[in-house]
Amino acid sequence: MAELDATAVSIEKILAACTAGDTARVRDLLDAGAPASAQEESTGESALMRAAAAGSAEIVALLLERGAPWNALDRKGRCAGEFAVDAQSQECVDLLVNAGVRAQLLFGILDGGASTEDRSSEEYLATTASFKDADTLVDDNGDAVMMEWETPLMAAHADVCVGAFPHDACGHLKDRNDLRVLNVGHGLGIVDGFLRNYASRIAAHCVIEPHPDVLKRVDSQTEKWAGVTFRRETWQESLRDEKFGPFDAIFFDTYAERYEDMRQFFRALPRILAKGGVFSFFNGLAPFNPFFHGVACEFVKCELDSIGLDCDFVPLQVDQSAHDDKTWDGVRRRYWRFDAYHLPLASHKTT
Ligand SMILES: C[S@@+](CC[C@H](N)C(=O)[O-])C[C@H]1O[C@@H](n2cnc3c(N)ncnc32)[C@H](O)[C@@H]1O
Repeated sequence: MAELDATAVSIEKILAACTAGDTARVRDLLDAGAPASAQEESTGESALMRAAAAGSAEIVALLLERGAPWNALDRKGRCAGEFAVDAQSQECVDLLVNAGVRAQLLFGILDGGASTEDRSSEEYLATTASFKDADTLVDDNGDAVMMEWETPLMAAHADVCVGAFPHDACGHLKDRNDLRVLNVGHGLGIVDGFLRNYASRIAAHCVIEPHPDVLKRVDSQTEKWAGVTFRRETWQESLRDEKFGPFDAIFFDTYAERYEDMRQFFRALPRILAKGGVFSFFNGLAPFNPFFHGVACEFVKCELDSIGLDCDFVPLQVDQSAHDDKTWDGVRRRYWRFDAYHLPLASHKTT
């Protein structure tokens, strides 16, 4: 009992010292055995959150060094990074992002082994997918595979593929009329529809799509997709073809896959993406916490850099309809909550 009281007192003391931004006191308390991972019982606020809220980069660094978890959540589901953002302390934000990226690098995981979808890709591909009102594709669990509110984002992704997006990383493609473009995952065909608007500049438009119900719809729209090559298989199968590629632009947007799967696709990029070519993907990384999302983007940047791609994330405003409750009527799970979308734009380094 006496020991429990002593721990409670030391937690209270370290939390107070963090709030006061008193580095010397925090160091003394840690040296005397106070836990760096201390969290207040009722609110769940941690020492790291208190230090971040106080904008004390020195204490944040000290706590991280002593093992405070960068990703602990309080009872409202907020992490230390969000406290740092609110306190407008860029130094604390940077320290916490770096701690997150390092942790991901160490453990080699992004989704902690758990997919955001609660079914495997094999399961999804073996079950029915249906088109609701022509503007939503749902799996047989009632989860949305693709929705119309993403249309402006898909337009931007298509523009990236042909150099029509205002960014230096893809600008060099805009004068080409021999482009080889790959889209992985047809879904509602939105991005492919936008790409057809540039048909005169695209010499080869290839789509990988394995789901029989999606392909059935493709087959009912032969005129719309004239000139497009469909590989009726998974991207994993396409990659086994040694003659596959190279492409000048690749867009990746699949479903029911883990981060680890996309990472496997990343590893093939040096082979299937031409030098100077551009790569982008639907950025639904860590979609429920803006700070974790930021860490995930930084992490992907490191991963792509290590295989020879420079990656930038371009912020875009998300269509208002994504926030309208009606948009999600009949969809089991709302998969998007942010105002901003960070469009990944990676280019294959030429040197
Ligand atoms: C989110 S949708 C793509 C939406 C598309 N970007 C659009 O503009 O409509 C995902 C698509 O990826 C397909 N897919 C799932 N697993 C795949 C895999 N392993 N290889 C290729 N496509 C896959 C799904 O069947 C689905 O059609």
